[in-house]
Amino acid sequence: MCGIVGYSGKKNAAPVLLEGLRRLEYRGYDSAGIAINTKKGIRSVKVKGKVAGLEEKLLEKPVVGSCGIAHTRWATHGKPSVRNAHPFRYNSFAIVHNGIIENWKTLKDDLIKAGYNFTSDTDTEVALICFCALFEKTQSIGKAILQLVKMLKGAYAFLIIDEQNPSTIIGVKNGNPLVVGKNADDIIAASDLTALLSFTNRAFFLEDRQFFVAGDGNIDFYNFEGGKISNTPVDVKWNQEEAKKGGYKHYLLKEIMEQPAALTRALAGRVDNLLFDELKNRITPKGRIICIACGTSYNAALCFKYFINMLSGVSVTVEFASEFRYQPHDLSADSLVIALSQSGETSDTKEALLRAKNSGAHTIAIVNSWESSIARAADETIYMNIGQEISVASTKAYTAEVALLYLVALRIASERGAAAEKIDAWKQKIKEVPKIQSNYLENSGSVEDIAKKYYKKKNFFYIGRGIGYPVAIEGALKLKELSYMHAECYASGEMKHGPISLIDSEFPTIAVAPPGGLRDKLFSNVSEIKSRMGQVILVSDSMLAGCDFIKMPKIDAWLSPFVYILPLQLFSYYAANLLGNDVDQPRNLAKSVTVE
Ligand code: M6R
Repeated sequence: MCGIVGYSGKKNAAPVLLEGLRRLEYRGYDSAGIAINTKKGIRSVKVKGKVAGLEEKLLEKPVVGSCGIAHTRWATHGKPSVRNAHPFRYNSFAIVHNGIIENWKTLKDDLIKAGYNFTSDTDTEVALICFCALFEKTQSIGKAILQLVKMLKGAYAFLIIDEQNPSTIIGVKNGNPLVVGKNADDIIAASDLTALLSFTNRAFFLEDRQFFVAGDGNIDFYNFEGGKISNTPVDVKWNQEEAKKGGYKHYLLKEIMEQPAALTRALAGRVDNLLFDELKNRITPKGRIICIACGTSYNAALCFKYFINMLSGVSVTVEFASEFRYQPHDLSADSLVIALSQSGETSDTKEALLRAKNSGAHTIAIVNSWESSIARAADETIYMNIGQEISVASTKAYTAEVALLYLVALRIASERGAAAEKIDAWKQKIKEVPKIQSNYLENSGSVEDIAKKYYKKKNFFYIGRGIGYPVAIEGALKLKELSYMHAECYASGEMKHGPISLIDSEFPTIAVAPPGGLRDKLFSNVSEIKSRMGQVILVSDSMLAGCDFIKMPKIDAWLSPFVYILPLQLFSYYAANLLGNDVDQPRNLAKSVTVE
């Protein structure tokens, strides 16, 4: 989603802001812009397309000043265009915005009636003109902000600059992330820590319903009631090196390949003590266990559902956060709600978590992004510790989420009295996973050949049974988002209840077939597909005549979310690359989905 950056300091602002935008590119966007307070007032430059295009424009016609704001836009109100790109200007102010103003239409109608004119289709310009109208009345930035936030409905993080106060940046947060950092010479604010890291590792995170006024080396924080508040900086543990491609052509390939190392870090110090550093008290609830998440994080939770059920007979419900947040439910202090999110900023997951918390349930977040909104909102947080995931398609976060959930499952099984030998045997198996992954990744060449054979197809089925089924679901999601091919996943027993009617020689199926009792049943389903001229790519340790074969190592089927997922991720990567797609920033997608 949109990225915002602001700078005030002793440097020329444009290169700093461009570097900040480059660091936010991974979030996904369709246009970019910058506004700088120059000696002749605020000057802005905007482009449809990438930050590189903005940089070219700034090279042709530099805009010089030491305070400014910048933006990458992911269109919500109005199509991607220069007209709708941020920053917006009005009177002496310029604004950038991440989020959605839900009551923009009513506000805009009122402002038009009052004689104000608009130049874009965005909700952001409505917020700016509303602010300017309030400033005209109050002649005070602080008072105008306090009145503005009373009028706005929705989620937002704004950065505002003002020609009359040329070194000042104002940041306002309600529902979308905003962080600000400071060193001796510079103040830099952004929607994402990543944009700050080349300046400082000490960051001030704003809570919802807070704003800051910064400039000339000072940052003052306020709440929406107008009170001045204190804010203690946090030392950030990420570093910039982790955010580089490390010799790989794409972040995605790097992140797929670094899964063994990432998993080693996620598991470090946590397997033997079953997460006791993070979860100090008994976690087994008397009541329900519910996982809430979106996308890949949701798919990771599905693996947990299967695993804990096999391990201890416990039933877990997995809900899309976007549905859960609006459904009636019977949560109480006896319920455990686990929210999963790589970014820690997914709007639906955050709201679903808050809903669960408000109903009294105990909440645990499994999150990657340090000090993110979801991490801060949950009662207890388990960090993935896998370093930044930059490619929009999630890979290493998936395997880390499943691993941490497996530990949660073992912890619950142990608290419910499972035999120590059984738990210890699982701990040992989990410890071996990174090595199994490394061995596989070193010998995964056949996947690229299979991608070369199939990358021009338009449709794919993915099928699986048992724990192979949620793995196949995640495989299908990867193919869709990266290659833009239609990919649908079914529990293979369902094929004959409808989907098999689509099978012909042009509609291939990827069958995820780890060992175990259900594999023979899946093989029968594969035969039914082949009998109807369907091509099948079999991902298994056991071959079946007439299928293209992705050979897997002999492992326990319950480890397939860590190992069988690898060729599925690679297949999607190679197919997308062969098709010439933007692998790290697939069209229409964003890394951090901060709108509903
Ligand atoms: O940051 P989150 O884990 O909360 O993100 C959830 C989804 O938006 C995310 O997994 C999305 O589906 C990815 N593009 C999948 O690769």
